[in-house]
Order: sequence, then C-alpha cells, then structure tokens
Amino acid sequence: MKDLAMIKKAVMNSIEHAKTLEALDDVRVKYLSKKGEISQLMSELKNLSPEERPAFGARVNMLKQEVGDALAKKKEAIEDQLLMASLAREEMDVTLPGYQFYSGSIHPLNQVIEDLEDLFIGMGYKIAEGPEVENDYYNFEMMNLEKDHPARDMQDTFYINEEILLRTHTSPVQARTMLQSQGKPLKIICPGKVYRRDDDDPTHSHQFQQIEGLVIDKTISLANLKDALLKMARHLFGENREIRLRPSYFPFTEPSVEVDVSYIKKDGTTGYIEILGAGMVHPNVLKMGGYDPEVYSGFAFGVGVERIAILKYQIDDIRHFYTNDLRFLNQFKGDVR
Ligand code: DAH
Repeated sequence: MKDLAMIKKAVMNSIEHAKTLEALDDVRVKYLSKKGEISQLMSELKNLSPEERPAFGARVNMLKQEVGDALAKKKEAIEDQLLMASLAREEMDVTLPGYQFYSGSIHPLNQVIEDLEDLFIGMGYKIAEGPEVENDYYNFEMMNLEKDHPARDMQDTFYINEEILLRTHTSPVQARTMLQSQGKPLKIICPGKVYRRDDDDPTHSHQFQQIEGLVIDKTISLANLKDALLKMARHLFGENREIRLRPSYFPFTEPSVEVDVSYIKKDGTTGYIEILGAGMVHPNVLKMGGYDPEVYSGFAFGVGVERIAILKYQIDDIRHFYTNDLRFLNQFKGDVR
C-alpha cells in the first residue's frame, strides 16, 4: 500500500511536468502499458494473503483509473496549447496589400459570335458545326459550284490534295446539316473559321470567321429572311437601324442579295454599309441536300465575324484580331457589347 502511494505521487508528478505529447506518452508507457509499473503491481497479488488481495486489487484498479484520467486531461491541455500556438503563428495581417490577379477576357471575335449565338438561339435556331478541312464536294459542289464554275476563282484556298481543302466559307455546313436532317425542317446558324488564298493586309486575312444561317421549311419566303436580318442588324448596331437588300449573285441562292445596314453620316444624312450576303436557297442546293424544292423553300445568309466587329468597334486593321497585343485585347474587357 505504501508502494502504491509512492507510485501515485511519482506518476502524477511526471504527468504534471510532461511538456509534450511524446513525453506524456512516455509516462503512459512507463506506468500503464502491459509491462508498466502499475500493471506489474497486479503480479504482487500472489505475495499477499487472501484477505488482503481484494482491497489491494481495488486500489490498483483505482490508481489505473486516476492515472488514465490525469493523462487524458493533460493531453487535452497540451493539445490546446499547441492549437493556440499555431493560431498565434498563423495570424494574418488583413491590412497587408493584396495580390493583383490578372483576369483575361473573351476575345472580341468570340464576343460577336457568342452575342449572335444568344440572339439566334432565342429565335429558335440550333448551332451547327462542320470541319475546317473540308471536301471539295461539300465546299463547292453541294453549294452549286461545279468543278469549272467561274465563281470558284473568288474563293481560292489551301489544298491538301485535289479533293480536300481548307473550307472557303461556312456554307458547306449547310449541305452537311441538310443531309443529316433527312428532309425535315431546320433552322441553324454555323459559326466557324474559313480560309482564302489572300495576302494579309488591313482588310484581308487568309483566315477569318463567318457565321452561316440556314432556315428550311414549307413556307419560307424572302420576308422571313428580311425579318431575321433586320433583327440581327438592330441587335448588333442599335434599334434605330434599317437594312437595305441589293440584288446580287451567289451560286447557292436565287434570288441573292447583298445586305447593307444604315448609319448616320457625319453630315447627318443616312448612309448604308454592306454587312453580309444572303438569299433564297437555290433549288439545286435543296435537291442535293435531300429536299424537294417544290415543297420546301429556305433562306440562307453568311456574315463575316471580323467585318461585324470592325464596324461595331471601329477597328482599322483586321490583323489586330490575330496578333494578341494586350493593349488591343484589354479594350474588350467586361461587357462592351
Ligand atoms: N458563302 C458566302 C461567302 O463566303 C457568303 C454567303 C452569301 C453565304 C449568301 C450564304 C448566302 O449562305 O446565302 O462569300
């Protein structure tokens, strides 16, 4: 019993003076593990008289309990201290200046594309896409430009081989979508890159972007085309704009029109500036696409994305779009639409 009291004093003292979790665990091992001093006390039982054994056993168990409690309490205290110390260490100074994050922005050409996609999706159109490396067949023949058609001269391009080329316009997506739609009405716009064999200068680029539009149904007329184009022009340039259709020629439309949008000149009079080509889908194009031109009619248009952006933001050189000069691009941050 005397040993017990001494052990208790020693162990409590060690617990009190343990400064770290490791030191505390050493105390636990020293006294409470299987070979620990308190556990070993039980082996003393055999040296005691049968009358003394229960009381001694109870005391040892109580001591175990007390030491266990003291260890747990001290452990909590040390952990609290560690936490407080780490909080103090990690305290932050909210008055320090922050880091400046550089945020990018959507390229002006993509702003125009996304803006028009939103507009046309709102009018029930779907977005269609096609490959930039295209077959002569879709790029020209399905668009009613057979092999020796003179209008091909205006759309010379980069050839992979005799039959495969970089598409000169987004019009082949018309053909592809018609074939996919298998004679059913359709209403699509197709944004994408196109290529021409052109020398780059302030108004020409060998690569640029277009958005094609195509609507086919049983009762489509030029009035529907005009309605869609007027909505587009007003959405892009303002509600006070008018459009003007001038007769023109494209192999894939009949009649074909060139579309101008009105603007107020410096002297206050109204001028018109060309923004796109359009027309009623040529019967041959409908037929090749699997539509009976006696039953179905359609309109189509093709608009240059750069041209729209140039007019909208008064940009003086098409090459600004491609050279990625941040002084140019940063002018299109935020909502400039
Ligand atoms: N594909 C023509 C071009 O690149 C643009 C065009 C004109 C597209 C009239 C059309 C259209 O769909 O109807 O010059």
